[in-house]
Amino acid sequence: MVKVLFVCLGNICRSPLAEGIFDHMVQQKGLGDKIESDSCGTGAYHIGEIPDSRSIDVAQRNGIKLNHLGRQFQGADFENFDYILAMDDSNFANIRYHKSFPQNGRDIVFKMLDFDNRKSGGDVPDPYFGGPQGFDNVYNLLNESCENLLEQIVKDHQLS
Ligand code: 4NP
Repeated sequence: MVKVLFVCLGNICRSPLAEGIFDHMVQQKGLGDKIESDSCGTGAYHIGEIPDSRSIDVAQRNGIKLNHLGRQFQGADFENFDYILAMDDSNFANIRYHKSFPQNGRDIVFKMLDFDNRKSGGDVPDPYFGGPQGFDNVYNLLNESCENLLEQIVKDHQLS
């Protein structure tokens, strides 16, 4: 199994949406027995909670059902996952400076938008305090980068 972890701050807006979009693509390509994904937050504010209703809504409008309960990032995630994707610089720094950051950390921790079409390495903006259009923007960024990430994983692990 190749294991992929999406990380944001609260684990209710961006990362569960990324997980839902990515898993939907994995299932559509028939790779469900080879690639597994999860999400978490660097913060502890929303442990055990379902995703934000605006993420559920934008996912649903695109034919995707979110099935996740909030959990916090933990040191063991470095061992349990092959790809760790941070949504923004703040999430990235929290992971990068975690006390359990491993020797091979630089090979497994990325920013999500390292995989957008421009390889911009920018931030997936936190949509929590904004309106619904922020969630459409996040959806579009995640959709594009999930597709490229999946392509990279298929290539890295010769899954096709
Ligand atoms: P997320 O958005 O990191 O994309 O899940 C947020 C959700 C909640 C909070 C911040 C960001 N919060 O401060 O509670």
